[in-house]
Amino acid sequence: MHVLLINGSPHREGCTYTALSQVAAQLEKRGVSSEIFWIGNQPIRGCIDCKSCWGKGRCVFDDDVVNQCIQKILTADGLVVGSPVYFSGIAGSLKCVLDRVFYDAKRLFSYKPAAAVVTCRRGGASATFDAINKYFTISSMPVVSSQYWNAVHGDKPEEVLADLEGMQTLRLMADNMAWLLKCREASGLEPYEREVRVKTNFYKPGT
Ligand SMILES: Cc1cc2nc3c(=O)[nH]c(=O)nc-3n(C[C@H](O)[C@H](O)[C@H](O)COP(=O)(O)O)c2cc1C
Repeated sequence: MHVLLINGSPHREGCTYTALSQVAAQLEKRGVSSEIFWIGNQPIRGCIDCKSCWGKGRCVFDDDVVNQCIQKILTADGLVVGSPVYFSGIAGSLKCVLDRVFYDAKRLFSYKPAAAVVTCRRGGASATFDAINKYFTISSMPVVSSQYWNAVHGDKPEEVLADLEGMQTLRLMADNMAWLLKCREASGLEPYEREVRVKTNFYKPGT
């Protein structure tokens, strides 16, 4: 069992990394391997809605981390997406990654348990947490919860480590992720057959 942890901060080892490291350590304790994948700090373009990805599960732009990210999610059993809070929302580069990763490939991620982790100095954590969870809940990905919304507070890694309730919340989320993955494996249950997708733009047939 393997969980992919995406670090959506421009800082390789900042607050988001510190939070994800706590999740990784707890997963390891429960016998689940993980990998922290940093999206880097180079420019990442946004989705241009060219629809080239439709049916392919790949973005037409192959010059950044997006397609690598899709492949890593596909081979992982579970996913954690970590973002610093920027103006009460997802950090810009990560938003570009998630839009392009999920636009088509979301149909391939069904039933992989997923969780959001956010880091902030002071405010906007729950709005950002909600925004990340939207990617999972449009993709039939079971959302792994905890005792609180997965946020830690701090502007520096040492402040994050001092947020004891936040860190405990992350450890419980990691435990719940490990438990869910093991339940799935133990049950051997396959998901129910899906209906053919109906798509309407309000009341009119959509594309
Ligand atoms: C452009 C920008 C916007 C930010 N907006 C917020 C914000 O709305 N609320 C907040 O509490 N912190 C905000 N911060 C602070 C970061 O969320 C905080 O420092 C975060 O923990 C950094 O994580 P990192 O070290 O992984 O990059 C902002 C930082 C930047 C650079």
